[in-house]
Amino acid sequence: MNKDIYVLGIETSCDETAASVVKNGTEIISNVVASQIESHKRFGGVVPEIASRHHVEQITIVIEEALAQANLEPKQLSAVAVTEGPGLVGALLVGVNAAKAFAFAHQLPIVGVHHIAGHIYANRLEQEMEFPLLALVISGGHTELVYMKEHGDFEVIGETRDDAAGEAYDKVARTLNLPYPGGPHIDRLAHESDGAVEFPRVWLEEGSYDFSFSGLKSSVLNYMHNAAQRGETVPPEHVAAGFQNSVVEVVTAKTLRAATQYKVKQVIAAGGVAANKGLRTSLTDTFKEKGLPFYIPSLKLCTDNAAMIAAAGTVMFEKGHRGTMTMNGRPGMAMASWN
Ligand code: KG4
Ligand code: ZN
Repeated sequence: MNKDIYVLGIETSCDETAASVVKNGTEIISNVVASQIESHKRFGGVVPEIASRHHVEQITIVIEEALAQANLEPKQLSAVAVTEGPGLVGALLVGVNAAKAFAFAHQLPIVGVHHIAGHIYANRLEQEMEFPLLALVISGGHTELVYMKEHGDFEVIGETRDDAAGEAYDKVARTLNLPYPGGPHIDRLAHESDGAVEFPRVWLEEGSYDFSFSGLKSSVLNYMHNAAQRGETVPPEHVAAGFQNSVVEVVTAKTLRAATQYKVKQVIAAGGVAANKGLRTSLTDTFKEKGLPFYIPSLKLCTDNAAMIAAAGTVMFEKGHRGTMTMNGRPGMAMASWN
């Protein structure tokens, strides 16, 4: 009988300090997330220096809590998986150094994980992956369509050329005086709205799977600015609904076209913006009609967490990947296959 694999995951790439233990890459044993959102809220976005300091304060507590909840001793672990990049350099460094220290102290192998691969593998904690598959990774830092022929094989077929979708959500929310992070507030307003301002759809050149959200964001800002100059008050929910309609329509259409062209067996969505109700409904209905299996992880696995890093790290570990004690945070890390 094969021995069970327990991996400790560590994630500190942005504003959540997280640690988790995952069994065999599919089963969450513990999942601890310390959010810093309250500290960044008053600045309207993540302040890198503050993020790093919070990670330093929280990381040991969070790791100990993850092990305590899992009721495991370090020697029962098979490996430590940590987000190596991309992300904020100072934030990544805290997780990477904590992982190296822990691995060294307990003589465990260490595995460096790409944050987006983590988001994709969050799905595996709820639903086995079937290949070929298409993953839509849509978050505060990324908007990508990734084609996977098998485990650890990543082909980025589309990505944002400017802002990530979540970034656009947060910036539009800011002009509507909504708190950070603005995505959930726009989502809520859009649902309450009885009307929608018409904003452009940015399709880019024919056949492209890339995205662009900065033009849409500017168009919302211009609309607000013009209304203010004319002394008109604009119902914020109409702006929120109009913006969300544009994002949802373009993202759904491009994901559907890619899934069809690449003849995938499964479509998955991941990342913070995959928590968006409008987008979830649109994608779910579209793929139901198409008869294609479509999955989105539950909300707590959509936003940053360490269980997804442990899940991805387990597959890398099984494939023989090992990091070294010279591992560093890689803020601009590119997505590479694990084969
Ligand atoms: O994946 P995540 O936690 O962190 C990154 O890796 O970026 O995503 C955070 C992003 C934020 O921009 C936040 O506004 C957005 O996800 N977000 C949403 C919703 N919930 C979170 N955007 C739209 N609708 C939501 N319901
Ligand atoms: Zn993320």
